[in-house]
Amino acid sequence: MSQWISVREARQASSVGGEREVRGWVRTRRDSKGGFSFLELNDGSCFGNLQVVVPGEIENYTTEVQRLTAGCSVVVLGDLQESPAKGQATELHATSVKVIGWADPENYPLQKKRHSFEKLREWAHLRPRTNTFGAVARVRHQISQSIHQFYHEEGFYYCNTPVITASDCEGAGEMFRVTTIDLEGLAARGGKVDYGFDFFEKPTFLTVSGQLEAETYATALGRVYTFGPTFRAENSNTSRHLAEFWMVEPEAAFFDLQDNMQLAERFLKRVFSDCLEHCSEDMEFFDQRIEKGKLQQLQSVIEKPFTHLSYTKAIEILTSCNESFEYPVSWGTDLQAEHERYLTEKYVQGPVILTDYPSCIKPFYMRLSDDEKTVAAMDVLVPGVGEIIGGRQREDRLEVLQNRMSESDLAEKEYWWYLDLRRYGSVPHAGFGLGLERAVQYATGMANIRDVVPFPRTPGNAEF
Ligand code: 4AD
Ligand code: MG
Repeated sequence: MSQWISVREARQASSVGGEREVRGWVRTRRDSKGGFSFLELNDGSCFGNLQVVVPGEIENYTTEVQRLTAGCSVVVLGDLQESPAKGQATELHATSVKVIGWADPENYPLQKKRHSFEKLREWAHLRPRTNTFGAVARVRHQISQSIHQFYHEEGFYYCNTPVITASDCEGAGEMFRVTTIDLEGLAARGGKVDYGFDFFEKPTFLTVSGQLEAETYATALGRVYTFGPTFRAENSNTSRHLAEFWMVEPEAAFFDLQDNMQLAERFLKRVFSDCLEHCSEDMEFFDQRIEKGKLQQLQSVIEKPFTHLSYTKAIEILTSCNESFEYPVSWGTDLQAEHERYLTEKYVQGPVILTDYPSCIKPFYMRLSDDEKTVAAMDVLVPGVGEIIGGRQREDRLEVLQNRMSESDLAEKEYWWYLDLRRYGSVPHAGFGLGLERAVQYATGMANIRDVVPFPRTPGNAEF
C-alpha cells in the first residue's frame, strides 16, 4: 500500500525512499530531450511545488502526460528520492500518473502569464490557486489560529455574539438592515413600514461589532473574546475598508486602559511572531515579491516596545510638522488616514498607540476621563495600514453613561440590558477590536484589503 502524503510532507520528508502517493494540481510541465517530463505539482499545503519526474516508459506518457497543462488535477504514485536539483530536498519519481480532471488550456484563465491583482479579483474563485493568494490564505489561517491560541492561553473564553442585532454599537449609523418585509410590495402599498409584520417585530441589523454583547459575558466570566464577521455599510472605496470583515474583540473585567494597551501589544507581537515562525516560506515570498523588508520590519515590531502618544500630543505633532495634508487637523477633529500614516510611518516609524481621544468623536460607551473632554480610548496604528486596533476602557458609571447616551440620542429603553451591567456589580472593564483583514494586510504587505479576504464585499460589489 502506498501512503498518500501532502506536497508539504513530501518536500520536508526526512526519510526518502519508498512508495508515496501525492494528489494535486499541475503548475507546469516541462518535457526533457531525454524522453521524460518534469511536472511541478502543488496541492495548496505549502508554498513550494513538488517536482515530479515522469519517465517516458509509463503507460499513458504520450497519450496523457504530455498533454498535461496548468490546472490539471492528478494523482501521482512514485518513489520519493533526494533531489539533485537546487532549491528542493526531494523529488518524486513517478511510476504512475492518473489524470483526474483536465483544464482546457484555451480557456483556463490562470496560464503562465502573470495577471494583475485587479484582474484576479474578477476570478476570485480561481485566484487561491496562484502563489500570492495561496500564501495569503495560509497566513490568514495562521493568524486566526494564533488569535484563538493567544486568548486561550491568556485565560479568555471564546464567546459567540450575535450577527443579527437591534443595537448600533458604534453609533455611526452604518448598518445593513435585516428584514423579511417584501420591499417591492412595500413600495406598492405606499411605503409605510409596519415592523409588526417583520420577522423580529422590530428593526434589526447586521452587527457592526460584538462588543456590547461581549461586555455582558466579560462581567460574568471575567475575560472573554468574540471573533466573527462584522458588517459596515460605509461608503468607503479605500484600500483598507470592507463592508464585511472579521473582527476579534477581547473584553476583560477589572481591566483599565493600561492593561488593555499591554494586552494589545502582547497580542500583536504574538500574532506576527507566529507568522514568521509557522509560515516562513510564505513570509519570505511576501518579503521578496510584495513588500521588500517585511521580515525585518515585523522582527523589529516584535522586539521593540510600542510608542505611546496622546491624541493631544499627536495633534501638536501634526500641526507643527511641515507636511501638507489634504484634510486640515485641529484638536477635536478625527484623524484621517494621511495623518495616521504620517504619525506611524514618518514620526514613529513603527507601531504607535494613540490614547485619550476627544469624547466628541468617539462612541457613547467609552469611559469619560477626569478632564471631561477626553475618553479612555486607544487606537493602535501601524505603517502602511493605519488603524489596526480600536480599543477603549468602558464607561462603568451608570449616570455618566446615561448622560453620554442622551447626548448621543440613544434611547435608554433599547439598551436597558447594557445599563443593567452598570446597575449590578459594575466594574471597570476594557477591550478592543482588531480587524483580521488589516492584520493580514500588515503581516503580508498586501496593498489592498480586497486581496486578503477570499470574497471581498465593497460598495457595488457582492460577486460570488
Ligand atoms: O475601531 P472600531 O470601529 O472599534 C469597534 O468596533 C469597537 N467596538 C471594538 C471594541 O472595542 N471591542 O473597529 C475595530 C477595528 C479597526 O481598528 C479596524 O482594524 C477594523 O476593526 N475595521 C475594519 N476593517 C475592515 N473594513 C472596515 N470597514 C473596518 N472598520 C473597522
Ligand atoms: Mg476605530
